[in-house]
Amino acid sequence: MAITDETSGTGVSRRGFLSRVGATGGAGAMFATMGALGLAPSAEAATRAPFQPPRASDFRLRGRGAAKVAVLGAGVAGLATAYELGKAGYDVTILEAQDRVGGRNRTLRGGDRLAEMDGATQRIGFGKGTYMNAGPARIAQWMTTMDYCRELGVPLEVFTNSNADAYLFNESAGMKAPVRWRTAKADMYGYISELLAKATDQGALDQRLTAVDKERLLSFLSGFGAIGSKADGFAYKGTDGRRGYSVNPGAADTEGTVLGSVPSLGDVFASGVGRYFSFEFGYSQAMLMFQPVGGMDAIPRALAEAVGQRKIRTGCAVSKITNLAGGVQIEYEQDGRTRTLAADYCVATLPPHVLAKIPHNLGANVQAALGTPVPVSTGKIGLEYRGRWWEDEERIYGGITNTDLDLSTIWYPSSGHHSERGLVVGYYNFGAAADTYARMAHADRLRRALDQGAKIHGDRYRKGLAASASIAWIRQPHIQGGWISWPSRGAEYALLNRPQGNVYFSGDWLSYEIAWQHGSFESARKVVTELHQRVLKS
Ligand code: ALA
Repeated sequence: MAITDETSGTGVSRRGFLSRVGATGGAGAMFATMGALGLAPSAEAATRAPFQPPRASDFRLRGRGAAKVAVLGAGVAGLATAYELGKAGYDVTILEAQDRVGGRNRTLRGGDRLAEMDGATQRIGFGKGTYMNAGPARIAQWMTTMDYCRELGVPLEVFTNSNADAYLFNESAGMKAPVRWRTAKADMYGYISELLAKATDQGALDQRLTAVDKERLLSFLSGFGAIGSKADGFAYKGTDGRRGYSVNPGAADTEGTVLGSVPSLGDVFASGVGRYFSFEFGYSQAMLMFQPVGGMDAIPRALAEAVGQRKIRTGCAVSKITNLAGGVQIEYEQDGRTRTLAADYCVATLPPHVLAKIPHNLGANVQAALGTPVPVSTGKIGLEYRGRWWEDEERIYGGITNTDLDLSTIWYPSSGHHSERGLVVGYYNFGAAADTYARMAHADRLRRALDQGAKIHGDRYRKGLAASASIAWIRQPHIQGGWISWPSRGAEYALLNRPQGNVYFSGDWLSYEIAWQHGSFESARKVVTELHQRVLKS
């Protein structure tokens, strides 16, 4: 079959061909085909078989029934495991310690109660329609999470992960005021371009560059950095409008006034703003990104509905895991009573440091492996304001301000623009900064977040606050961490990625996308595939 670039002629167009493959073979087949056509990284496409969900017919053809599976944890990995196994009629029961599904996928709304491990409890006072995604809050286009949103009918909208009009602020570098991303980028790219253009022109790179390379590089730098010509010494002057304007361009003779004054090269480097630029180059963080309309918990809600509520037992904390010759026995506590669940297989999706505290008979190596990953602290505070001053007064419509303050980042809402109220994430931080806030009561977290945020937004930051809520994931019962980090993905990682008798482990912590729902979905699919193949062979 001839494949042409356009639809005209007798061949099949690339686009038409791909959409036909997509319609019959799914995204995986389309991606592999794109690879063969040289439109996608073919090595990757060739080595990854598309996920094939278990089907009821797999059993009908063999005249044998599906197995009984106990899934521990109703987070994304547990729900996805139950959902996929359910497609083939497996008898699945999910045990969940909390009174809700979703695990770390949690959206806080008015009326919710948020309890911490020491008993401190917040009653969330957000107004109707206001929410904070306390856990996952952004999805990249390539992630499997998108496929589940499509399959489950979860509506999506753009999540604004970067915004030229949000700020950068490094207090420790002596910055007195925040600078807009666009301004910081213009200055940094400008000076870098100037330096590289001078070095190139003066022959410093002659060993690496041909005369044509040099010409092309200089041409690129001219646009990239908005620098002067050779006659001007390639100087960056910052007179280009990309820095921003103090008076915006308008009608007739209002040309606009470009924002001044331009800092020196040394001052730009000293400010350290450039350290934030590479974030958006990341495969997982690059725009466009997405979020479910109305809150990230639409994903676990849709999964739970598809699984069937009667298969999910909440308020059931697992207290013992026993691998048997022909199955598993799970003990759990419910309403102060110990109960038992017998199954053929178990898929344990709890965080490893939580699993490590539950007695089991899986051996010392498993216990050591479960104790290897290190929980990572992370936290957020949601600040609900009666007015959207960041839009009305500062012209920031979504995106993220980055700082070296212990609040780390401030997030502006990606939707509801120009509506009455809005919620700003006043801090989203990790590690030591997150621990600082985790140690405080909510009222102190709020005070500190407002003091820090006022360094960016001034006094308006303290005014018009309607409600607030904060989460410290390290203090969340049954979770005790934002995610984990493997000191190295060594023998322990490999061990837990293999079934231990009739017990499988699954979760983002057993993937290469830790702290992403994608990792949970991918890990669930892997375990479902392995378990199903085993059941079919048994
Ligand atoms: N996935 C987490 C984030 O996007 C780490 O912040």
